[in-house]
Amino acid sequence: MIVDTKTDPTLGFTSQDHETAFDSLPVEGELPRWLTGSLVRTGPAKFEVGDRPVRHWFDGLAMLHRYTFGDGEVSYGSRFLRSRAFRAAQEKGELRYQEFATDPCRSLFARASTLFRPALTDNGVVNVSRVGDEFIAMTETPLPVVFDPRTLEAAGVAYEPPGVLTTAHPHHDPVRRELVNFAAQLGPRSQYRFYAQRSRTEQRRLAKATVREPAYVHSFGMTERYLILAEGPFVVNPLKLALSGRPYIENYRWEPERGARFLVFERDGGALRGEYRTDAFFTFHHVNACERDGELVVDLCAYDDPSIIDALYLDRLRTGNDIPKARLRRFRLDLDGGRVNGEELADTDLELPRIDYRRRNGRSYRYVYGLAAHEEFVGRVVKVDVERGEHVGWSQDGCWAGEPVFVPEPGRDEEDAGVLLSVVLDAGRGESFLLVLDAKTLEERARARVPHRVPFSFHGQFFGGELPS
Ligand SMILES: [Fe+2]
Repeated sequence: MIVDTKTDPTLGFTSQDHETAFDSLPVEGELPRWLTGSLVRTGPAKFEVGDRPVRHWFDGLAMLHRYTFGDGEVSYGSRFLRSRAFRAAQEKGELRYQEFATDPCRSLFARASTLFRPALTDNGVVNVSRVGDEFIAMTETPLPVVFDPRTLEAAGVAYEPPGVLTTAHPHHDPVRRELVNFAAQLGPRSQYRFYAQRSRTEQRRLAKATVREPAYVHSFGMTERYLILAEGPFVVNPLKLALSGRPYIENYRWEPERGARFLVFERDGGALRGEYRTDAFFTFHHVNACERDGELVVDLCAYDDPSIIDALYLDRLRTGNDIPKARLRRFRLDLDGGRVNGEELADTDLELPRIDYRRRNGRSYRYVYGLAAHEEFVGRVVKVDVERGEHVGWSQDGCWAGEPVFVPEPGRDEEDAGVLLSVVLDAGRGESFLLVLDAKTLEERARARVPHRVPFSFHGQFFGGELPS
C-alpha cells in the first residue's frame, strides 16, 4: 500500500519508486469501444539520487507509463527507463551525467578532463516517438533510448543526431515515413541543423545555418514545404558553456534587445527561404503552422521571457510559486515581404498543446487542446477554437490534469471527433486516474483509476492498434 499525505499538486513532483502493472483498471463511465491502442508517456519519477536531490523538474529520472485500451478496458504498466544515466544512478548512488540543471559532483580535475566531451545524459524524460519499427524515449541530448513498448524495457541508444543538442519534438513525414528533427552543433562555428531519420541507420541532412550564439530550442514548426525555427533571444556562448562549470541551462542568457526571429528553410533542398524579425518572446512549444495566401501562419505558446524555466526548479514548485503562463500566439510571416504580424488567439493561457496531428499538422486547423492554470498550478484541460477564439475547459477541485492527447475516432471526418486522454493527479485521494474526455464538448466519458499516484509527466503519444512484440 502506497500512502501519501499531501493534498496539493506537489505530490506530482514527489518520487514514485514503485514500478507497477495492472491488467485491468477499474473504470467509471464507459470507454469508447473503438479506442484500441496504447498511450505511452514519459516523465520524471525519481527526484533524488542517493541522498542528493536533483534541482529541476526536467532532471528527474524518467519513468515510462503505458495505458493499453481494448474491448472497453484499459491496462496500466510503469517502468523506469533503464538508461545508462539511470543505471549509473542505481549502481553508484550518485548522478554521473550532466542533466538539464543538475551536474554530477566532480573534482576540478575530472571537470577539466570532460570539458569538450561532456558526459551527456540519456535520461529520456521528455517525449516518446517511433522511428521505423522502434520506439524511442527522448530528451534534448542526442541520445534517444530504444524501448520495448509492451514491457517498457530499455535497449540502448538508437542513433546519433548530428549535434550535441536536439529536440524531443520531432515531426513525422508520413510520405517518406521519416522523423524530422532539429539539432544544434556547438563549437567555434556553431550550426543549426535539420535532419531526417528513417531508421537506426538511415539519416539525411535537410538544412543548416551557421550561428554565433545558439538559442535554446525545444520544438519547431513544419509545413509541407517549410521548416520553421522560432529563435527567441535566450542564447548561449558555446565556449562559456564548456568552461563555466555551471549546469547546462544556467549558461543561457536572456537578451531581449536582440528580439526574436523566425528562420524558414525549404524542406526540399534546404535553402533559407527567409529570416523574419519580431519582438522578443520565449517558447517551448509550437502548436502548428500552415501556408495561407502568401503567408506562413505560425502558432505557438509564447512567454514574455524564459522565467518559466526558473519557476520549474523543484524547490520553487514545491513551495507553490506563481508560474508564468503561456499565451497562444499566432505569427503571420509575409513570405516575400519579410513582415511579421503577431496576435493572441484566445483569452486563456495554454501549454502542452496538442492537435489532430496526423490530419492537420502543416495545414489549416481549428482546434488546439492543452492545459491552462488551475488552482495554484496548471491542470485545467482546455480546447481553443483558433478561428473564433472561443474556449471550453474541464477541471475538478483538487485534481490536476496532464497533457491532453487527442485520439481521432476512426471513420469520422470532423476535426474534433474523438477523445482526449489525460492523466490526472487526484491529490486528495493520493491517486491518479486516466481521464477520457469527449473532444467536442470536453464532457467526461470515463475515468480509469490507478491505485497509486503517477508523478506529472511531460509528453506522450497514442499508438493505435496492437503494439509490436
Ligand atoms: Fe515539450
